[in-house]
Amino acid sequence: MNSYLRSPHIKYNSGIDRVKMKEYPEDSVKGSAAPFSNMLNSYYMDPTDPCYEICQRVIRDMTQYGVCVLNNFLGRERGLLVLNEVLQMYRSGIFKAGQLVSNPGCTDAQTIRSDRITWIDGKEPHCYHIGQLISQVDNIILKANKMANNGKMGDYNIDGRTKAMVACYPGSGSHYVKHVDNPNKDGRCITAIYYLNLDWDVRKYGGLLRVFPEGLNQVADIEPIFDRILFFWSDRRNPHEVQPAYATRYAITLWYFDSHEKAAARKKLKERGEASSSK
Ligand code: OGA
Ligand code: MN
Repeated sequence: MNSYLRSPHIKYNSGIDRVKMKEYPEDSVKGSAAPFSNMLNSYYMDPTDPCYEICQRVIRDMTQYGVCVLNNFLGRERGLLVLNEVLQMYRSGIFKAGQLVSNPGCTDAQTIRSDRITWIDGKEPHCYHIGQLISQVDNIILKANKMANNGKMGDYNIDGRTKAMVACYPGSGSHYVKHVDNPNKDGRCITAIYYLNLDWDVRKYGGLLRVFPEGLNQVADIEPIFDRILFFWSDRRNPHEVQPAYATRYAITLWYFDSHEKAAARKKLKERGEASSSK
């Protein structure tokens, strides 16, 4: 993580909300990994478990920096199978322009974000390897959340996530201005992004993810390279931007929910609904 830190020199407007909570299709983490639902934060993880070291790194970096980058996450072969599924899906024409909350339907939304997206759960036809990726990420996040000595991962009780958002920045300077994924406690605590871009040369193609960790006088610049996965806290600790991309740039994003924040957000929404319908 240290090697991604740089001094900041670009400023954009901040505080742009993403889409509303209901526009995040939810999915279940059941059926993946172990039977976590009733576990307390005391799960004993066998050090010979193949994901033990990865979980340790996630815990260490999320606790220390709030951001964690892992390279060669699936390995080339499995990464290529995921990429092929994404390419096939993109060609099928199902990707739509990304939406904004603060201004739904605003005609210049594209000046804020110009990616094209689709939501999937990994069980659709021709998405088998994406499903495998999702299960692997679930496994790591859930284990790192439940195991002993889990640092700041222990601040949460992760019990769900969104579907996977598959995003394409189709070159031509497409970008996403500086924003916070979850500025208003909608329940999402961790953002996980898996990148699919072979031979990505950031000097030629741009498309850098720049994170501005709160209270730090440094930024983290993350190149969206093939088979890299990135985790960061989704709240105001991590404003970030996607700098203009000049080649087609693909990523798959999952947002994990904290059960308590999610329940509080639902309650608030319900109360608001009742208040407005009784008028
Ligand atoms: C997002 C986002 C970052 C990236 O979709 O909210 O910030 O690197 N994406 O694609
Ligand atoms: Mn974001």
